[in-house]
Amino acid sequence: MKCGACVRDCAFRALKSADDGTPKMAYPDKCMRCQHCLAICPVGAVTFDGRKAADSVPTKDLALPSLDEVENWMRARRSVRRFASEDVDRATLDRILASLGNAPTGCNARSLTFTCFPTRAATDRFRAGFISAIEQHRDGTRLLPRWLAIPAIKLRKGGEDMFFRGASGILIVSSDETSPGVTTPREDVTIACAHFEMLANAAGIATCWCGFLNLVQKEVPEILEATVGIRRTTPFYAMLFGRPAVRYARCVQRESYARIDYRE
Ligand SMILES: Cc1cc2nc3c(=O)[nH]c(=O)nc-3n(C[C@H](O)[C@H](O)[C@H](O)COP(=O)(O)O)c2cc1C
Repeated sequence: MKCGACVRDCAFRALKSADDGTPKMAYPDKCMRCQHCLAICPVGAVTFDGRKAADSVPTKDLALPSLDEVENWMRARRSVRRFASEDVDRATLDRILASLGNAPTGCNARSLTFTCFPTRAATDRFRAGFISAIEQHRDGTRLLPRWLAIPAIKLRKGGEDMFFRGASGILIVSSDETSPGVTTPREDVTIACAHFEMLANAAGIATCWCGFLNLVQKEVPEILEATVGIRRTTPFYAMLFGRPAVRYARCVQRESYARIDYRE
C-alpha cells in the first residue's frame, strides 16, 4: 500500500521509505521494538520479528471503558488496610500479572520483575524473613529509629502489622537499572504498580501502596537482598493486596486534590 503510516509513527526513525515508497527497517539498532509499525498498518502488511498482523487482536474488537467508568474507578478506589483471611484467586492473579506486561516502560525497556507472594502462607514467610533481617541488622548494637523499632516488635509478637497491613499478598515490582536500554527504572516500577492497582481493583482485589518497605530499606539496606534476593541498588516498590475486609460506603471529598495550572 506504501501509505507511510509505519514510517511516520516510528518514534526513533528506525524505518525509512525506499524510493518506491516501500517501508524498510533502515536502522535496526534504533528500533525499540514497540511494534507500532505492526499495530498501525491499516492492511496488516507489517510483520515484526515473525509476529504476523493477523495474529494481533484488532483494537476495534476490544470493549474499552468509558471516561465515566475510569473516572468512577478513580473516585471509588481506596487504599485498603484491612484484608480478609482468604487468598486471592490464583487464576485472576496470573491474568493480572500477565496483563501488567502491557504497562508502558521508558524506551520500551520492559525490564521489570514481578516478585509476588500470592498467598497468606507465602506472605507470612516473607513477614518472618523481614523481621529476622531487621533483627540481624540490629544485632544488639545498632539502634533503630522508633518508627521502625516499635512496629517491628509489634509484628514479631503477632500484633498490629503496620508495614504490610495484614495483606494476604505482596507484589514487589523491581527494575534492573543495569540492564541495557533501561532509562527510567523508577518510573517504570511506579507505573506498573499504578496499573496493578487498577487491574486488581477491577477484579475485586483490594490494594495498598507499601511505601514503608522503601523507608525500611533506607535504614536496613540489605532488607530485600536478605529476604528476596533483590539487590540493594535495584529500584523497587511494593503493593499489598488481598480480598478486602472493609467496604467504603462513599467517596472522599477532594476539592483541592491537585493544583491545575493551565498556561494559555
Ligand atoms: C507512593 C505511596 C506510598 C504509600 N505508602 C503507604 C504505606 O506504606 N502504608 C499505608 O498504609 N499506606 C500507604 N500509602 C497510601 C496513602 O496513604 C493513601 O494513598 C492516601 O492516604 C490517600 O488515600 P486513598 O489511597 O484511599 O485515596 C501510600 C500511597 C502512595 C501513593
